[in-house]
Amino acid sequence: MKTEIIDVSSDRIQKDTIKHIAKTIQDGGTVAFPTETVYGLGANALDTKAIQKIFEAKGRPSDNPLIVHIAEITQVETLAKDIPVMAYRCMERFWPGPLTLVLKKRDAVPQMVTGGLDTIAIRIPNHPLALAILKESKVPVAAPSANLSGKPSPTIAQHVIEDLNGRVDVIIRGGEAKVGLESTVLDMTCDPPMMLRPGGVLPEQLVEVCGQISMSPSLLRELNPGEVAKSPGMKYKHYAPKAQVIVVCGDPKKQVEKICELRERLEKSGKKVGILATTESLQYYTSNCINMGSALHPEEMASNLFQRLRKFDELGIEVILSESIEEKGMGLAVMNRLLKASGYTIENV
Ligand code: TXA
Ligand code: MG
Repeated sequence: MKTEIIDVSSDRIQKDTIKHIAKTIQDGGTVAFPTETVYGLGANALDTKAIQKIFEAKGRPSDNPLIVHIAEITQVETLAKDIPVMAYRCMERFWPGPLTLVLKKRDAVPQMVTGGLDTIAIRIPNHPLALAILKESKVPVAAPSANLSGKPSPTIAQHVIEDLNGRVDVIIRGGEAKVGLESTVLDMTCDPPMMLRPGGVLPEQLVEVCGQISMSPSLLRELNPGEVAKSPGMKYKHYAPKAQVIVVCGDPKKQVEKICELRERLEKSGKKVGILATTESLQYYTSNCINMGSALHPEEMASNLFQRLRKFDELGIEVILSESIEEKGMGLAVMNRLLKASGYTIENV
């Protein structure tokens, strides 16, 4: 398949280009576009043939449901039913933005979109280009992250091109996805609502609106045998670079000592080792060390993380030793992705 790559700058969005992209979606094609979180691979959510193309292009397991993107809150009622008042409050407060709400689905939504579940995940992204496409195409757009299944989500167009060139109809080159990690997923079909994936909207912010939320037990640990993932995406190894990732947890100073010790041991056994460090402790390491951002600003780390993981692959690193940060605020989402990337390979100090 020949992929058309289109350059669009967010501050000069051309009507004709948007019309062309929207037509591709209406005609059942696949389009990779930027959002504020990560790049998404979109297709008409009501067209099963188009949805099939997304699963094929990504190599995604068919039981992993997709997030449906819309332009206006009024569209929610065409996709979901029995919508709780609390869900409307969340929409008013956080949309457009990095929050996905899981609601009861209507029959009009194909089973393929929801991986056979009777619920549907919906969000309005906060990105001028994404919103222009969604408005113009006039259909709900199912869009998982625009990476090959299992790889880190793409935050720049170049990473989408690396994964999906030749596998999709259009890739839009539209700058950097600022948040850098995927949206927060909140299940509104239970009481209190349950966070299934941490992201750009923080638990503290959700508590302000919902009063109380619960956290899926799988946010920071592996599922036990027999435990069912409420969000099917959580059970797959995710966000993983080619290199093995080991996360070192505990007191920051001791983390540095442990990483230096592990590095020496691994290098002696012939491994090419990379270090993912906070800005604060960068000075303690020598070569192949990449700065993931300040531990005091986890949102900076969030926006860097996936790019950094891909960078290690470019450098041919075999083992990544990563520092960890507190699971507070955006730190929760950062640690959730890091631990998943490591397949929960943790060294406690
Ligand atoms: O920020 C984002 O959400 C990005 C951009 C493109 O919008 N999209 C994204 O999609 O991250 P994806 O497919 O990579 O992740 C969707 C997540 C998966 O973990 C999936 O299991 C969960 O949402 N999900 C989707 N529908 C669900 C449902 N009905 N119930 C529970 N979890 C659901
Ligand atoms: Mg994904």
